[in-house]
Amino acid sequence: MTSPIDQSAGTPVRVSLGSWPTPLEPAPRLSSALGLDPDDLRIKHDDLIGLGGGGNKVRKLEWTAGTALAQGADVLVTSGAAQSNHARLTAAAGARLGVDVVLVLTGTPAPAGNIALDTLLGASVHWCGDVSDGELAARVQEVADGLAAQGRRPAIIPFGGSNALGATGYRTAGDELLRQDPAVQHVVVAVGSGGTMAGLVAALGAGRVLGVDTGALPDPASAVAGMAAELTGQPADPSTLRIDGSLLGPGYGSVTDVVLEAMRLAAHTEGLVLDPTYTARAMAGLMAAVRQGDVTRGRRIVFWHTGGLPGLMGHTTALERIMAG
Ligand SMILES: Cc1ncc(COP(=O)(O)O)c(C=O)c1O
Repeated sequence: MTSPIDQSAGTPVRVSLGSWPTPLEPAPRLSSALGLDPDDLRIKHDDLIGLGGGGNKVRKLEWTAGTALAQGADVLVTSGAAQSNHARLTAAAGARLGVDVVLVLTGTPAPAGNIALDTLLGASVHWCGDVSDGELAARVQEVADGLAAQGRRPAIIPFGGSNALGATGYRTAGDELLRQDPAVQHVVVAVGSGGTMAGLVAALGAGRVLGVDTGALPDPASAVAGMAAELTGQPADPSTLRIDGSLLGPGYGSVTDVVLEAMRLAAHTEGLVLDPTYTARAMAGLMAAVRQGDVTRGRRIVFWHTGGLPGLMGHTTALERIMAG
């Protein structure tokens, strides 16, 4: 019997899964509506990465899947919530790269949003019901061990694609932004499993990155600091990170009034569609930062659009509240 591949033992290898750079577009009507000058705000469009419906996870998969393939993997195993964008994009990366994908998901199946796309993209799905993070990790290991016992070469891609290898994709994204706008002063981004913010902090420094917590992890600051430290080789103090944890409401995926307000504002001013779990929460965080004077007029501000539209189309509560007006 072979063992699942240990990614941490591999030399990082990048495979191309997108066209870079992603667009950086002005958003003057949204900027003014937020109380900023029209030229202050730009949108970094990682939602427009072409693979599998787009989103931030593609940049991480360039490194995690690239390294796994270089190590000889013939099947990628990963985990997430039922409406995980990372799971959907791992399925898409597997299809593009010609390797099988097995998804280990919490919750139960419903024919909507990311779940339908997972199947369309050819992944196999193991449903776990409502399990703890620890139980989910154990199920992933069981699935990978089972595949190895059949003579396959599975590689486990971490939850949310977030380890230092995956976060490398966002260090290179931060460098990409600096080439587009060397004077950027604030970058606003959603924080889930933390790899996106960690990579941006490694490239741009902690002071320029405002992360908005979505409630996916119990201690996002430690997770982000840990990955940022691995990327830079310098210790990172979680207390120096700008993470706004005040937008959680009742918890991960909840549709609060401010989340709906952020969705409506972006849609009505710029035709920009945000998802309720990640990007609308990040926009609500930018709205709060402007109100509180953390982000002020005349600054160069980038809102990082990390995708998630399929998640909106799988979020019945959000859709019902939108339709209720
Ligand atoms: C659309 C979207 N935006 C942002 C994030 C947060 O990224 P990270 O998990 O790297 O913190 C996620 C994570 O699932 C996501 O799906």
